[in-house]
Amino acid sequence: MLSRLPFAVLSLSFAAISSAQNASEITLTPAAKGASVANLSQIVAPSFAGMGIEPTNLFSFLGYSQTNALSIQLFQNLADYSGVPPQLRIGGNAQDSMVYDSTVDSWGLVSNPHSTGQGNVPSDRNLFGNTYFKALNRLPTATPIVFGLNMAYNENDWVTRITTVAREVLKQVTTPTVISFEIGNEPDLYLGNGFRPPTYDGLDYTNEWLARAAAVANQVLTPNNYSSNYFEPGTTASTIGKTFAIALLMSDGINKTANGTHDTYIVGWNQHDYFYFVNVSVGGLTLDYLMDLDNTEAQFAYWASQVAIALGTGYPYYLREMGSAGPIGLQGISDTFGASLWTLNFFLYAAILNISSVDMHMTDNSWSAPWAPVERNGVAPYVRPSYYAWAVMAQLIGNCNGTARVAELDAGGNSNIRAYAFYAHGTFQSVVLINSIMVNASASDQDSVTFNLDLPDFKNQVLYLSTLTADGADSTSGTVWNGLTFSDKDGSPSGDMHAASTTVRIDSDGHASIRVRDSQAVVANLGWVLGSNAVVLPNSTDPRLSTANHKSDAKSNPTPTTAVIAGVTTTILASATSASQNPDPGPSTPSQKKGGAGSLMEWSRESLFLAAVAGMVGLGASHLLWRCW
Ligand SMILES: *[C@@H]1O[C@H](CO)[C@@H](O)[C@H](O)[C@H]1NC(C)=O
Ligand SMILES: *[C@@H]1O[C@H](CO)[C@@H](O)[C@H](O)[C@H]1NC(C)=O
Ligand SMILES: *[C@@H]1O[C@H](CO)[C@@H](O)[C@H](O)[C@H]1NC(C)=O
Ligand SMILES: *[C@@H]1O[C@H](CO)[C@@H](O)[C@H](O)[C@H]1NC(C)=O
Ligand SMILES: *[C@@H]1O[C@H](CO)[C@@H](O)[C@H](O)[C@H]1NC(C)=O
Ligand SMILES: *[C@@H]1O[C@H](CO)[C@@H](O)[C@H](O)[C@H]1NC(C)=O
Ligand SMILES: *[C@@H]1O[C@H](CO)[C@@H](O)[C@H](O)[C@H]1NC(C)=O
Ligand SMILES: *[C@@H]1O[C@H](CO)[C@@H](O)[C@H](O)[C@H]1NC(C)=O
Ligand SMILES: *[C@@H]1O[C@H](CO)[C@@H](O)[C@H](O)[C@H]1NC(C)=O
Ligand SMILES: *[C@@H]1O[C@H](CO)[C@@H](O)[C@H](O)[C@H]1NC(C)=O
Repeated sequence: MLSRLPFAVLSLSFAAISSAQNASEITLTPAAKGASVANLSQIVAPSFAGMGIEPTNLFSFLGYSQTNALSIQLFQNLADYSGVPPQLRIGGNAQDSMVYDSTVDSWGLVSNPHSTGQGNVPSDRNLFGNTYFKALNRLPTATPIVFGLNMAYNENDWVTRITTVAREVLKQVTTPTVISFEIGNEPDLYLGNGFRPPTYDGLDYTNEWLARAAAVANQVLTPNNYSSNYFEPGTTASTIGKTFAIALLMSDGINKTANGTHDTYIVGWNQHDYFYFVNVSVGGLTLDYLMDLDNTEAQFAYWASQVAIALGTGYPYYLREMGSAGPIGLQGISDTFGASLWTLNFFLYAAILNISSVDMHMTDNSWSAPWAPVERNGVAPYVRPSYYAWAVMAQLIGNCNGTARVAELDAGGNSNIRAYAFYAHGTFQSVVLINSIMVNASASDQDSVTFNLDLPDFKNQVLYLSTLTADGADSTSGTVWNGLTFSDKDGSPSGDMHAASTTVRIDSDGHASIRVRDSQAVVANLGWVLGSNAVVLPNSTDPRLSTANHKSDAKSNPTPTTAVIAGVTTTILASATSASQNPDPGPSTPSQKKGGAGSLMEWSRESLFLAAVAGMVGLGASHLLWRCW
């Protein structure tokens, strides 16, 4: 559990009026100035809410000989909203079974006829050619890419192999911006999948990692004027890989300086987690359990401690693989609107921990991927509810013109309620109200929670409300955000955010009340409809923050401010002065709100350890599953 911020005032009022309706009221007091907020986040990069693509599924997402227009538009929407395309990791289990072969010219991977690599799935099982890079060049300009290199491959020619592919990536991937290399996927699991002997530990990994980083730096980066701190070390991806914890990798010397420079090879830490992992986590996941947001914090406790350690080393922390359920989500949970609320909350929770990007993992058969990129089992490609959480996050960040900082507000400790405040240029700009109390589409009675905002510095100003909604938590279609829906056919947005937005005037005492239906989230933005302004980006050469200078060798001069017109602008600000909503909170009573963290699943470290060891075969199986498609 996160400590609650002390500046906020709580008042859960269970008014003693009869008739049980719309359970609770919550008072929030966001500080007017970010400077007075304890633990205000660092600046949230416009590219913060990212994804990861399993390498064997790259063509499913980006297209084979034909571009996958749905995917490209869905990436582009987010770029339009935040100003920079989402960070994209090209990595996963499959990166350790793929080797580059320039003679492969088909649109797809080729099974290696002369495989010699070790491993349950041989480390050179699949070959990819230049079509792989051509597919990546379909991404929106300046998409920040983390490219996963194969470290499992350990034959005599590994130096040639790894330097060749790194050189080709930097030469051929030109539309996106390659921001870093990840060397090996989850090396703490190498001992279980036959890549390395059972004694393999964090020190062995550190030495192999440094040897590969040095080879790539000396032979590829330095000659091309890239700096050597271009790598993200993978750190423990499970609680069995404790010798791969960040502190131990540091004491093993992973931050060694690069040949002849004062830089290390490290640009940031690369860690993976899933809220739940089939055959590893104990117990069965339910939607209700996912939507209890205390469970997220409980599951992430170990990772949160790693974030703090990572930041203490002076390098940023990237959560490069994440999902509601691994390896491929769970139908009826990961593909529902409830998971969209979970995703939005996770992005915000990660932002306040100062995680620098969250890349939710995508496979073409995953229920937790924000869209299905190809037809499967007769079901055409479609956009899932969780995609809308990326759209919310992108508009929230873009709205702050490259200065977004987030704080969590004290929402009273209810496990289904979260509230966050955004600060632009250090001043309060918007509040995000999440009510994840589960109510299904079929429920005849849909309750709500009323948030009473105390904003004395903003008396008489207008809050514009944008809603993330669907018929219910269990809905798998019909999601709407800010009046927008995204086409299953081509990913394009339609709808009218101005018409969909309602307003609340902050009264002369500084109060405003906003009602949020159960299983819904609302953003209240001060002064205009979220997403309706042009997005301005900082003057930065950092590709995570700006597209202004998207070549990552960064030798050229910074270029001036880039302006991006945000998203769909279908109408002008028409209803700016429309009558303010005056929600009647109604009589309330303590109803079915849940108490503390659920106890459905026990997350003891030891059971996770045992389950993970027992699940090795399962991990292998999931790996095979991913490869087959
Ligand atoms: C700030 O964050 C740190 C790390 O998560 C936590 O230990 C501390 O209690 C927080 N402080 C406040 C005032 O919330
Ligand atoms: C996040 O970073 C900001 C500085 O950018 C710092 O003030 C804040 O305490 C940090 N929060 C945590 C949880 O480390
Ligand atoms: C690297 O920088 C040096 C000095 O600025 C320049 O002479 C050289 O051409 C550059 N090399 C490449 C490959 O860009
Ligand atoms: C590596 O980390 C140690 C411990 O934090 C530190 O003392 C040392 O200066 C670091 N080395 C470099 C090259 O950054
Ligand atoms: C270190 O750098 C020097 C000069 O750039 C180079 O000649 C040498 O080969 C490099 N060392 C290794 C181990 O690559
Ligand atoms: C962001 O920039 C746009 C375009 O200049 C401007 O309209 C808007 O007010 C700015 N937003 C903030 C929060 O400064
Ligand atoms: C709501 O839907 C979820 C997902 O289908 C299901 O697990 C849950 O039992 C349903 N709840 C109610 C009250 O019907
Ligand atoms: C970016 O640089 C331009 C030109 O130097 C300057 O006018 C502008 O104010 C800068 N913008 C920001 C956000 O710093
Ligand atoms: C409870 O909330 C629902 C949905 O927001 C609303 O339709 C209903 O009128 C509310 N009931 C009361 C008594 O406020
Ligand atoms: C989980 O274990 C079952 C039983 O061993 C197996 O059939 C299934 O494929 C496994 N699933 C995953 C995702 O590993």
